[in-house]
Amino acid sequence: MTVMPSVPTRILFLALSATPVLFVASQQGGEAQAPLAEQVFKKIEVFKGVPASDLMPAMQFMAASMKMECTGCHDAKDFSADTRAKETSRKMVLMQRDINAKYFNNRLEVTCNSCHNGQEHPAAAPIPNGIAMRHPRLDSPPKPDELIAKHNATVGTATAAIVRSGNLTAPNDVTHKAETLPLVFIQATGGKFTIVSGERKAGSDGQATWYGPNPMVDEPAAVFNRMGRAWRGDDGFAGLVGMSVAGKDVIGKTEVIVVRASRPSTKSTEELYFDKKSGLLLRMVNIRRSTIGTVISSMDYANYKNVGGARVPMKVTATFAGGEQWIMDFKSAKADSAVTDSAFKVGG
Ligand code: HEC
Ligand code: HEC
Repeated sequence: MTVMPSVPTRILFLALSATPVLFVASQQGGEAQAPLAEQVFKKIEVFKGVPASDLMPAMQFMAASMKMECTGCHDAKDFSADTRAKETSRKMVLMQRDINAKYFNNRLEVTCNSCHNGQEHPAAAPIPNGIAMRHPRLDSPPKPDELIAKHNATVGTATAAIVRSGNLTAPNDVTHKAETLPLVFIQATGGKFTIVSGERKAGSDGQATWYGPNPMVDEPAAVFNRMGRAWRGDDGFAGLVGMSVAGKDVIGKTEVIVVRASRPSTKSTEELYFDKKSGLLLRMVNIRRSTIGTVISSMDYANYKNVGGARVPMKVTATFAGGEQWIMDFKSAKADSAVTDSAFKVGG
């Protein structure tokens, strides 16, 4: 019975069939030393001095680390022909050896797989589940301003403070186990908000952002301002510059259009996902660069409901870079014109 070899095996044979003469020749030479890669194969640079028998396992390792066919790097007709991917891979072999020599005492610690892990393009940043950093292009994209105008028209222009009550499910600060506590979230115009849940109290008076009695600056303040941000009128959109349509995407089954812009005040890029049909903002992804890597987090807005002439999301989910979530589930909401600025002052 004959068994058809699988495609990679056939290619392996094909690759080797170019060199049997050399194999035989060096074996007949009766040398005690095993032949080196450069003695057996035609175009060897980085595997010079490595036993020829090492080359195929090395090739299988590269292919597996990148989830690539042999022909992802090779011209199937001539495995010795140079390709761009081959050239890059040679540099990668040198880089891997350098890293291991310099930082791991020559132990084989960092390999193709450490970075590539089955992907041609290694992910440079941890990306929370379900979020894509590349979006398919739109054939005739709308203008970002039109999308924002449509969202604003849909949520309405009512200016009274909105008070939402419900639950916050979030990891406990100490045990990190998810717990559910009552939540009251008040938002007024001008970036003012307070979030109160159990011991947690945070907010902004429109200028200073605070957590408990402490004012916050930089990134912690930015994190809470993102949670507190109301996307109504100018409130959320005003600080954004350089808007462009990045493409389309889906959230669950809902088709969305993604607008990308930068927000200089938080040194970040934001991606705004607008529902293609309703026009409502369903997600904001925040991309904050640091000198060693990028931190990606998101806010999801769902279950928009009519509240005193405005539409507000009754479910808001903050997803942080490591995948932890704060899930705000609101049971009731009301517009309250009696809320005064004292509700937002530092310390709550
Ligand atoms: C990620 C890229 C990559 C993949 C995938 C890959 N190779 Fe290679 N291959 C190389 C590089 C780079 C060299 C040259 C090594 C050198 O310069 O020392 C090479 C060299 C070879 C050679 C020597 C050719 C010659 O005569 O000079 C053979 C044979 C070969 N590969 C077979 C394979 C087979 C079979 C597979 C699939 C199991 C495979 N390769 C998968 C990058 C790759
Ligand atoms: C320290 C991390 C790291 C290691 C180790 C590493 N790579 Fe890479 N590799 C990268 C990065 C980063 C890129 C560029 C990513 C991109 O283009 O999106 C890259 C790009 C490549 C590309 C080009 C991909 C393309 O289509 O442009 C190839 C091929 C490749 N690596 C092969 C290898 C092989 C083979 C090894 C093991 C010998 C290896 N890499 C080891 C990080 C690494």
